[in-house]
Amino acid sequence: MAAGRGVTEDELYRIMYGAIAFEMLHAGWAVGVFDHLGRHPGATTAQVAEALGLQRYPCDVLVTGLRGLELVLGDDSGLSNSPLVEQCFVQGEDGRHLPFVHDIVNPGISDFIGAVRAGANVGLRHFPGDGTSLYDRLEHDPDKLKVLHDHLRATSDATLADLVRTGVLADSRHLLDIGGGTGTNAIALAKHYPDLRITLLDLDNVVAEAADNIARHGLADRVDVHACDVFADPLPTGADTALLAHMLPIWSPEADRKLLRNVCSALPDNGKVLLFDPLQNDQRDGPDYAILFPAYYLAIASGHGTFYSWSTYEEWMREAGFTRFQRFPGLAVAHGLHAGWKQ
Ligand SMILES: C[S@@+](CC[C@H](N)C(=O)[O-])C[C@H]1O[C@@H](n2cnc3c(N)ncnc32)[C@H](O)[C@@H]1O
Repeated sequence: MAAGRGVTEDELYRIMYGAIAFEMLHAGWAVGVFDHLGRHPGATTAQVAEALGLQRYPCDVLVTGLRGLELVLGDDSGLSNSPLVEQCFVQGEDGRHLPFVHDIVNPGISDFIGAVRAGANVGLRHFPGDGTSLYDRLEHDPDKLKVLHDHLRATSDATLADLVRTGVLADSRHLLDIGGGTGTNAIALAKHYPDLRITLLDLDNVVAEAADNIARHGLADRVDVHACDVFADPLPTGADTALLAHMLPIWSPEADRKLLRNVCSALPDNGKVLLFDPLQNDQRDGPDYAILFPAYYLAIASGHGTFYSWSTYEEWMREAGFTRFQRFPGLAVAHGLHAGWKQ
């Protein structure tokens, strides 16, 4: 039975020319329109052009597009940022997502049709190297690896406070941060919980950068790193909590279920696992971010994976040996936290 009102003509054009809409947003941030209007609300297009060293014609094309998209408000007699643009791209640091979309998502997603036909991440051809996942390939491309890490850090910065607010880590003593990246989560959690020990697990090059970041924050006595392939190598034992943040959506159900079994074996009785990710709603038709982003996992990142549902995570945790569960829905950026306890 069909549900919903169906797409409007304007919405259809916004999708059809979505690549242009993205570049408008990207340019508004990169050439400094948002910054300028943040400092000079009420400026005209001519004043923006002059301040940014742009010719009048291209500035007019850009500003007109930004106004049409309602990223910028007002008219030629005075412009201002829309409140969300001001909050995210002037006061906040959401601009860190834009080079990720431009340099990684958009080149790779141009192979989406091929990925759908082949059921594989054929968009990986845009990233030279041997590995079968984007993460392996970017180990040899420090510039793009930094772009990916800036995007991940921006996501963590926007969501981690909500994870802390759940209170689920309050009684943890030693946390395994599995696929912990460059340490953004580990550093923030170590600062918030002064008695918490953390071991961050990730690939070779990534833990090297994580170790530098951890040392720079003066946390090396409580936060250590462990280079390993978490799908192939044994996980360290001794921790009472395991965090999988933005890790399971990248991989296939088979790989994730195996990883959760290994995590459960590495934890003591009463140990807990925390799955922290964006989640699709039960109808699987929103929110936009959670239904669009899985195309990146298919076409580029790994060729597997999606944002899974609460009940899928619960089924996997139960099968791995966890027996008690708690859901924390409604966190920032379409996130949820699903916790599972062993006995
Ligand atoms: C999407 S990032 C998540 C990073 C971090 N947890 C966060 O929330 O920002 C996934 C991480 O998994 C790591 N990773 C990928 N394959 C891995 C493997 N086989 N073993 C260990 N880590 C891996 C990547 O290097 C990357 O840092």
